[in-house]
Amino acid sequence: MNELNDVVGQAQTAFEQAATPADLENAKALFLGKSGRITEMMKGMASLAVEDKKSRGAAINLAKQAIETALSNRRQALADAELQVQLQAEALDVSLPGRQRGQGGLHPVSITLERIEALFGSMGFDVAQGPEIESDWFNFTALNTPEDHPARSMHDTFYVEGGSATAPNLLRTHTSPMQIRYAVQHVKKHRAMIDAGHSMPEIRVIAPGRTYRVDSDATHSPMFHQCEGLWVGENVSFKDLKYVFTDFCRTFFESDDLVLRFRPSFFPFTEPSAEIDIQFQTGPLAGRWLEVAGSGQVHPNVVRNMGLDPEKYIGFAFGMGPDRLTMLRYGVNDLRLFFDGDIRFLSQFQ
Ligand code: PHE
Repeated sequence: MNELNDVVGQAQTAFEQAATPADLENAKALFLGKSGRITEMMKGMASLAVEDKKSRGAAINLAKQAIETALSNRRQALADAELQVQLQAEALDVSLPGRQRGQGGLHPVSITLERIEALFGSMGFDVAQGPEIESDWFNFTALNTPEDHPARSMHDTFYVEGGSATAPNLLRTHTSPMQIRYAVQHVKKHRAMIDAGHSMPEIRVIAPGRTYRVDSDATHSPMFHQCEGLWVGENVSFKDLKYVFTDFCRTFFESDDLVLRFRPSFFPFTEPSAEIDIQFQTGPLAGRWLEVAGSGQVHPNVVRNMGLDPEKYIGFAFGMGPDRLTMLRYGVNDLRLFFDGDIRFLSQFQ
């Protein structure tokens, strides 16, 4: 019996020392394999008497069962250990913040442009877009600014090759060319009505977009935005300009006590002309006059270039700076921040 106990003990030790499933299978062969210890003992029973065979067989079987139990315990232990290692290797730190796709958003100036469009849209203004590469004619001449006019030098711009006075040859210096472009189309559409002496539907439009000048500092960028406004009819006056622009500014800045000042100025394409200044009554900018737009009554020569009779049609125009409006609304003091594309700056407006 001692011999059997020894074999069981040796098997248990051998299994315990097997570090991998392959080692364990090798160890198993030593005891339960074809020429393993237990198998050899079984074979050795052939020479025993029948009575002895019975007791010897039962004892060997017990030993065999003990070895099989030790084997399956060790198998399970090795499998558990392997699973543990795998779990460790594939561990997820559920406390880490998730990786999300960055959410884009509108540029602050785009937010302003959408706001301008919505506010003027609610006052019955159409929204028009025009080319950024313009001709002399639309950018200057049709706007009562002939070739030798000194006002041209204030609009130093970028010229492109291959253009001409009437074909695209420069980057527009303002959105005012859209006054002519839009009015000409409008008049064309209503030509028959006008010729028959009927009243033409009023022109009421804003034209936002990019404009260019050779200028660069904290408040000027070579590319900047403007938004033109034009309202022409038979009975449109400066009072209407004051009304719509005041209403726009107060709504845009959400400030009912905002005050406007129309300061006499000069533009070749308006007469009389005025710069529009605004003044906040509260907040960090309170009390200062801040220029936000140029404006004026459309010059008779410009009305004529629109294809209309200046004796009959009159109106006003304005040109404002959406970049500047954005700076004032959010308290940004350097215009260049808008165009540097730094996501840390831009994401603050979402
Ligand atoms: N185009 C002018 C500018 O860029 C602004 C303006 C527009 C003035 C319309 C009067 C009327 O300075």
